[in-house]
Amino acid sequence: MHPKINALLSRFPRVELVKWRTPIHYLPNVSAEIGIDVYVKRDDLTGFGIGGNKVRKLEFLLGDALAKDCDTVITLGAVHSNHAFVTALAAKSLGLEPVLILYGREELKGNYLLDKIMGIETRVFDVSRTSELLPIAERIKSELEEDGRRVYLIPPGGASPVGTLGYVRAAGEIYIQMKDLGIEFDAVVDAVGSGGTLAGLLLGSAIINAPWRVVGVDVGGFVENISNKVLGLAKEASELLGSNVRLKEPEIHDYGFGAYGKIVREVAELIRKVGSEEGIILDPVYTGKAFYGMLDLAKKGELGDRVLFIHTGGFPGVFHYGEELASLLGSF
Ligand SMILES: Cc1ncc(COP(=O)(O)O)c(C=O)c1O
Repeated sequence: MHPKINALLSRFPRVELVKWRTPIHYLPNVSAEIGIDVYVKRDDLTGFGIGGNKVRKLEFLLGDALAKDCDTVITLGAVHSNHAFVTALAAKSLGLEPVLILYGREELKGNYLLDKIMGIETRVFDVSRTSELLPIAERIKSELEEDGRRVYLIPPGGASPVGTLGYVRAAGEIYIQMKDLGIEFDAVVDAVGSGGTLAGLLLGSAIINAPWRVVGVDVGGFVENISNKVLGLAKEASELLGSNVRLKEPEIHDYGFGAYGKIVREVAELIRKVGSEEGIILDPVYTGKAFYGMLDLAKKGELGDRVLFIHTGGFPGVFHYGEELASLLGSF
């Protein structure tokens, strides 16, 4: 861990869900094709449940829930939500009772199938966006509290100042690994959904004065005014840490192809290509779009000579959107 970040984070309760530093490795075929060095940080291998970025946020969120003596955890999202499933799974493993507030078609696939296999309580509502679930989640929280439960409500994607600390910590980890590799990254790129991952990277990178630019790829307007949200989260997390670091406006590029959760041919083909060439499985909702954006920006010369892509996980999305991928890629 980076000593400066370690010192700032030491007073925050954290449950250890990630048992190792996730590896950073070079992608030889992708790099040769676009003419710059592309590395990947394997946060798909954070190692709890389905892995992914949310596990890092949950270390602090569930640490906070336990410190506040809660017994129930509520979170919300789409039925395919990686965040919802892994939150519920981690809560259960710590003896907390999870309740998931979801929207979307109840089909037994992807993360929703995993929710059911694990016996997680799900309540599915007929709305079309996660934001519309917020008042419903607040109401359910009050009802559970009236029954004597002590409820910790985790916002969509774990995007709270406390959740953001997970990627402040990750920025320190990246810095140490970069030094071990004897290289310097010009840019660190990640998928932007609820914004907490980017906010944490932005703040952590500023605290340690990292040499890289932090670049976000919006995967389709999961939230409106994403730049404001990311900057707001980073500022709130900075206040929480008592750091007075100056934060830059986040740099976010839109590669959502029109909508969050819209599955497109370009990304389906890229999932096949990167899987076949590098053995890395991307997903059609987050990392596939983010990788597509990273390649496009790199080809335009906008990311410098050496870039680190954060693989934020999400492979159950491949299974959730299997039929869409099959039809886009032609018959299997
Ligand atoms: C696999 C995956 N990648 C990236 C993201 C985006 O991260 P964030 O919500 O922190 O912006 C999410 C969740 O939204 C995700 O599940």
